Amino acid sequence: MAWVYLNGRILPLEEACVPVTDRGFLFGDGVYEVIPAYGGRLFRWPHHLQRLQNSLDGIRLANPLSDAQWRDVLEELLVRNREEAGADNDQAIYLQVTRGSAPKRDHCFPREIRATVYALSQPIPPPDPAIARDGVAAVTLADNRWSRCDIKAVTLLPNVLLRQQAVDAGAAEAILIRDGNAIEGTSSNLFVVRDNRLCTPPKSDYMLPGITRDLVLELAADNGMACDETEIRAASLPQAEEIWITSSTREIVPVTRLDGRTIGTGEPGPWWRKMSELYRDYKTEVRAGRAH
Ligand code: PDD
Repeated sequence: MAWVYLNGRILPLEEACVPVTDRGFLFGDGVYEVIPAYGGRLFRWPHHLQRLQNSLDGIRLANPLSDAQWRDVLEELLVRNREEAGADNDQAIYLQVTRGSAPKRDHCFPREIRATVYALSQPIPPPDPAIARDGVAAVTLADNRWSRCDIKAVTLLPNVLLRQQAVDAGAAEAILIRDGNAIEGTSSNLFVVRDNRLCTPPKSDYMLPGITRDLVLELAADNGMACDETEIRAASLPQAEEIWITSSTREIVPVTRLDGRTIGTGEPGPWWRKMSELYRDYKTEVRAGRAH
């Protein structure tokens, strides 16, 4: 049985309900985080907490829990759901904070309502071996999202529609293009290897600052892999030696076909293999409590 947290209580998933007047339901008025936990230990917790705070600030919503309360809640969930997660106890936490529920539907912020706080943890499925062998296909699509993509808002309709368009085209992800620049995926950040350098677009209001992205940059810098945060022209993508997408749930995924064309050799490349090993070793350190 899966346990979840809702507004101060831990309860079975089936029993967790929010009112239909919740502003998350009516307006998408809320923010979320996705946080892996390896061996029951939260991955990059301070980074996720800071990004949650930035998202809450971005929608002008006070953080309903203190840092210590968040940690207590999430660690309690990880313990409760440990059995389902198997021997490694690797789980992914989803947490969401909405502005809460008010009797009258009104766009402006209601006074004196309590935020709705929800969290659950689920086992992380083992990686699909076909991805390491073959990579995945992606397509490029015009980025029609708003201009505050740095806020991790639950309002994900453009991302949902764009991802479905990619899936309908037989691809795993859409790489989004704004003003001729490749920005990120619908739920992932973007890396490109070219001229023996690893490149990723710089942070901006048009992109979610991924926690995995930051760790990949750190691992590259610590291991002598030249890397740049620089604009990536969409027109240059077909000539990339390697393309990767990164996220907490998918980790580092090699893109070997873009818009029906082969990227590089058509197989996951040497830079990806090296970074995957570094990332795997980092997770081992997290499980052992030697990194976070
Ligand atoms: N999404 N960009 C977007 C638009 C995202 O939604 C995500 C993650 C990322 C990668 O961020 P991180 O490395 O911190 O996971 C980039 C999560 C996984 C989701 O929506 O489920």
